[in-house]
Amino acid sequence: MMRKIISLLVLTLLACCIICSCSSDASSGDDDLIVVGVSQVGAESDWRIANTESTKAVFTEENGYRLLFDDAKQMQENQFSAIRKYIQQKVDYIVVMPISEEGWDAVLQEAKEAGIPVIIVDRMVNVDDEDLFTAHVGADFYLEGQKATEWMTEEFADAEEVNIIHIQGTIGSTAQLGRTQALEDALAENSNWNLIAQLDGDFTQAKTYEVMSDYIINSGTRPVIDVVYCENDNSAFGAIEALEKYGYTCGEGGVKVISFDATKQALELCMEGKISFEVECNPMLGPLVKNVIDTIEAGGVPSKYQYVDETVFTPDTVTQEIIDSREY
Ligand code: AHR
Repeated sequence: MMRKIISLLVLTLLACCIICSCSSDASSGDDDLIVVGVSQVGAESDWRIANTESTKAVFTEENGYRLLFDDAKQMQENQFSAIRKYIQQKVDYIVVMPISEEGWDAVLQEAKEAGIPVIIVDRMVNVDDEDLFTAHVGADFYLEGQKATEWMTEEFADAEEVNIIHIQGTIGSTAQLGRTQALEDALAENSNWNLIAQLDGDFTQAKTYEVMSDYIINSGTRPVIDVVYCENDNSAFGAIEALEKYGYTCGEGGVKVISFDATKQALELCMEGKISFEVECNPMLGPLVKNVIDTIEAGGVPSKYQYVDETVFTPDTVTQEIIDSREY
């Protein structure tokens, strides 16, 4: 009889162990850590890598968090899968850096039904019901574009014609939509600005180098280019590489390259004069996202929309000190 009871106890214990190890509940650990599931777009740019590092730096065990991180490799379907997995795992919060604005309603509805707050970071989502997310932390991309076009208006105030090449970022992303809209609005106001090409650089150096080179090679006669409006730094690196390869000079007396992000490497090119106007886009958003979660944990309500302050640089204003103190 005793033997039977012991075997039963052992079996029950074993069953419990199996059930526990199969459990997909991420918050089932015996610690009090807050579980945060992050779905990051990818690693397409230096900006993105800095954004990932900033996120990983705050959601540490020492700070009271367990971080689950997924790199979607620039594919929205991968973001959907990661979010659905986080819902199954019953994480406490979901943080999403969305690749593009459209297509989020269904998956965010699932998160809402599961009672998991979602924080949108960097780019935005275009959803029917804004209650599908708790807060957005990011940049005002249209304002960034306006800063660039205001500089162009002053810089080319006396020019008869201004030939512009526009290198767009990932199509449908808020960063692309805002920066593109600002340029298109300025084009409508300046009849002497000619958009001679609009190319898809997908925010990467390699793609931009390729499309810029193809454009120059296939143009027949060597095109007169006054401005290349690049929607991020890695695009600017690719554009400068291609322009120089095909005999153009970038900077004073040559092609004026405009860029967004203001990474350390871009500021160095700005100081050299190869980038004429640099609009800052701040990727160090981790602490702001942590503030949102800390506010909720303390029983408060975070502001729904939080924009970061950003500045601009020209070869005249950027200094070695600024470059040395740059975090990204
Ligand atoms: O959404 C922010 C943009 O995405 C940055 O400008 C760019 O570098 C990144 O890939």
